[in-house]
Amino acid sequence: MNILALSILFSVFYQVPDVIASFDDKDVRNFLGTRTPYRFRYNKNDSRIKYPSCKDSKIWMIVRHGTRLPSVKDIIGMNSTLRELKYEILLKHKMGKGDLNPEQLKMLEDWSREIDGEQEKYLTKEGQDEMILLAERMQKRFPNAVKNKYNNQTFQFRYTATERAQQSARYFTIGLFDKKDAQGVIFSPAKKIDPVLRFYKHCDKWQKQVKKNPDTYTEQILYGNSGEMNKTLAAISKRLGLDNVLSLDTVNLMYKICGFETSWSKHYLSPWCSAFDQESAEMLEYYHDLKLYWMDGYGHNLTYRQACMAIKTMFDNFSHKQDPHAMFLFAHSGTLLKILTHLQLYKPESPLRGDTINRERPWRASTIDCFASNLAFVLYKCKDGDHVLTLHQERIIKLPMCESELCPLKHLQEHFHDSIYNCDYSDMCSLDKDTSS
Ligand SMILES: *[C@@H]1O[C@H](CO)[C@@H](O)[C@H](O)[C@H]1NC(C)=O
Ligand SMILES: *[C@@H]1O[C@H](CO)[C@@H](O)[C@H](O)[C@H]1NC(C)=O
Ligand SMILES: *[C@@H]1O[C@H](CO)[C@@H](O)[C@H](O)[C@H]1NC(C)=O
Ligand SMILES: *[C@@H]1O[C@H](CO)[C@@H](O)[C@H](O)[C@H]1NC(C)=O
Ligand SMILES: *[C@@H]1O[C@H](CO)[C@@H](O)[C@H](O)[C@H]1NC(C)=O
Ligand SMILES: *[C@@H]1O[C@H](CO)[C@@H](O)[C@H](O)[C@H]1NC(C)=O
Repeated sequence: MNILALSILFSVFYQVPDVIASFDDKDVRNFLGTRTPYRFRYNKNDSRIKYPSCKDSKIWMIVRHGTRLPSVKDIIGMNSTLRELKYEILLKHKMGKGDLNPEQLKMLEDWSREIDGEQEKYLTKEGQDEMILLAERMQKRFPNAVKNKYNNQTFQFRYTATERAQQSARYFTIGLFDKKDAQGVIFSPAKKIDPVLRFYKHCDKWQKQVKKNPDTYTEQILYGNSGEMNKTLAAISKRLGLDNVLSLDTVNLMYKICGFETSWSKHYLSPWCSAFDQESAEMLEYYHDLKLYWMDGYGHNLTYRQACMAIKTMFDNFSHKQDPHAMFLFAHSGTLLKILTHLQLYKPESPLRGDTINRERPWRASTIDCFASNLAFVLYKCKDGDHVLTLHQERIIKLPMCESELCPLKHLQEHFHDSIYNCDYSDMCSLDKDTSS
């Protein structure tokens, strides 16, 4: 059994207070990007959300899978690059170089982690907890839309054909229902090609024009080669006592593993986080946000146009009287970000550029794209018609196209007319119809 599995097992029995509870604004853990655990972001307030003369009647919620293991590439990187680096850092400090303190050195010395490559990207124990607790809170907020008794007509659960999304769905149902009910839940079969949950995967035009287009990475690469980044790499290398300046690849790997290890365990500080201070962590965070902005956000309009596929099913289900009443979809960062962009949320005032860091941007993966990120639409039946309440990360948000939080369904349907009625996936995604290239 690997160390991770062991530590995961132990965390079931010990309820150690979260070390996180006490960290300040400057802590590196505020800047972990897509590897930020959900326990840093969730909304503790789970009281029922009521509006006068209204009743919560339906919910459509899309959830990024919970905290997961790294990719095979990063697993190998941990067991080679970081393993070697660990000994070098320790050696240099014995020679009187470097700035790590004895406590940090001890943590590094004790660090060892081998993960079975077969389990790449699997959901972890923390990811299971994220789902169970999220489900419990959503049920408390919307007890009418999210009943605690399972019914195969009113509930619908969908996930992508991946272990992490499937397990996320499973643990979510464990949070909603008692054991017997949870065992009997029927999940919609995962689709290899899923135009609702992972529309971009098989959108040929997007694959060609965005994902595989070198232009998409221009700003990120620019930032990777910037003076700002060079200074950061040099400062980190010096802090670790190294004679050579580490490559961006290696520093990026340390940053990712700092994020993963922080997310996996509530009471373990990753020694790889010691390499960073607020400034350097923010730079790495921005480096990743640039890619997400150009690949999954506002960079290209086809990116977010495709998300009409998901938005459309929400409107379809809200405008029908019939069941299901509670729909939960489990997907990925790429899905959530494109949907947020379709809704015009978190849009920076100007496109993000690689010449220097933009600290004012609302587009920050650490807040909008952490593990278990989620977006929920709740249909309220009110005396004056149907309304929709939107929650992101369990917090009520006002959509930019609405005047208030509780937004008339009709108004949204009009605003998203094109998303609902002109959402032809094959047309949008076909390369044949692409005259511009
Ligand atoms: C908790 O949420 C409820 C419902 O949205 C709200 O009325 C209440 O003011 C919130 N409580 C706190 C302490 O924020
Ligand atoms: C990690 O590397 C060591 C030494 O190279 C090797 O013996 C071990 O099998 C590797 N472990 C994994 C899980 O790849
Ligand atoms: C759905 O639930 C009903 C009532 O509990 C049951 O009779 C039916 O067999 C269930 N359908 C499936 C597909 O399990
Ligand atoms: C940063 O370092 C890279 C690689 O050494 C180099 O190509 C680049 O020109 C440097 N950038 C600046 C602005 O000095
Ligand atoms: C998409 O972008 C192109 C070029 O920037 C622009 O001409 C077009 O109007 C945009 N389409 C939509 C639907 O925003
Ligand atoms: C919503 O409605 C569509 C029909 O437009 C259906 O295919 C889909 O499974 C429903 N559920 C969700 C979760 O969107």
